[in-house]
Amino acid sequence: MNSAPSSAKSRAAGAAILLAGVLSGGCAVDWQSAIHPRGTESGHIFDLMMMFGGVCVFVYVLVVGALALALLHRRRSDSGSPRRERALRRGLGGWAAFIATTLFVLTVASYAVDRRIAIAAEAPAVKVRMTGHQWWWEVEYEHGDPSRRFTTANELRLPVGKTTIVELRSQDVIHSFWIPNLHGKLDMIPGRVNEIRLLPTRVGRYRGECAEFCGLQHAHMAFDVDVVPVEDFEGWREAQLQPARQPTSASEHRGQQYFVTRECASCHQVRGTPAGGRAGPELTHVGSRRTLAAGALPNGRGPLAAWLADPQQIKPGSHMPYVGIPPDDLDALATYLQSLR
Ligand code: CUA
Repeated sequence: MNSAPSSAKSRAAGAAILLAGVLSGGCAVDWQSAIHPRGTESGHIFDLMMMFGGVCVFVYVLVVGALALALLHRRRSDSGSPRRERALRRGLGGWAAFIATTLFVLTVASYAVDRRIAIAAEAPAVKVRMTGHQWWWEVEYEHGDPSRRFTTANELRLPVGKTTIVELRSQDVIHSFWIPNLHGKLDMIPGRVNEIRLLPTRVGRYRGECAEFCGLQHAHMAFDVDVVPVEDFEGWREAQLQPARQPTSASEHRGQQYFVTRECASCHQVRGTPAGGRAGPELTHVGSRRTLAAGALPNGRGPLAAWLADPQQIKPGSHMPYVGIPPDDLDALATYLQSLR
């Protein structure tokens, strides 16, 4: 009976919370935000955005002011006189010149920012190849020495104050790579390689998200971006280069046995085991990641078990199939995968 008023009430409460969040500009909203630039490139884009915003507000105020003046004076008796006509013509000429100058300045500013964020022929400190899949991110860290290359998924770690070039590719459809705090969007197009340069200036965790509709689970295609001090980055790189931790308990052994002998191994790789599938995310250090299924779930034994039990409940349409893992094996598998840190 009273569902309408209560839903109106909850809508009002929701709007109030949203407004409070937006107004506070607090840390809850700034980790995926183009108005909180944390990199050189996003800084240039933000400055340009502010300049466009400022000019638009100024012109808007002028137009509204002119309209108000015209309304106030619309009945003045000299409105058709030659003197007034001349003044009006001069005013319009000045206005047209002002608009042309403003547009010219904005065009030059856009061009200048575009040149500043374009990739210069510099040697990057880190080179990463990111490939968009329906619906997750493959992340390969390149190195001149092939034995020092490694692959991870759904997480991008960057050293602060160093240039990283990210090569963008797609495995299937067009995706769009976007880390609002660090840069603008760039498409990942099948059969084509795009490059984006990132120079993060502040340590922190940010969120990247696919910015182009790419199918059913487009909204569940996120990744973590961790900007860390250079020493931490090198430590992380060394840890990632290690093969998977070997099982120590009976449950972990059982989980590993299931993993390498059953369906899992045909799609996923765990370095240091016979599992070498490349269709799905690399899982050598999956236990160290913060989220699962490209940001769809927090990482942990419970969410992981739920994901393994029925991925289609959590991410309908994803390429991770329902396997029907027996409960004891499921438990062991979750224990084993969580131990891969
Ligand atoms: Cu990938 Cu949207």
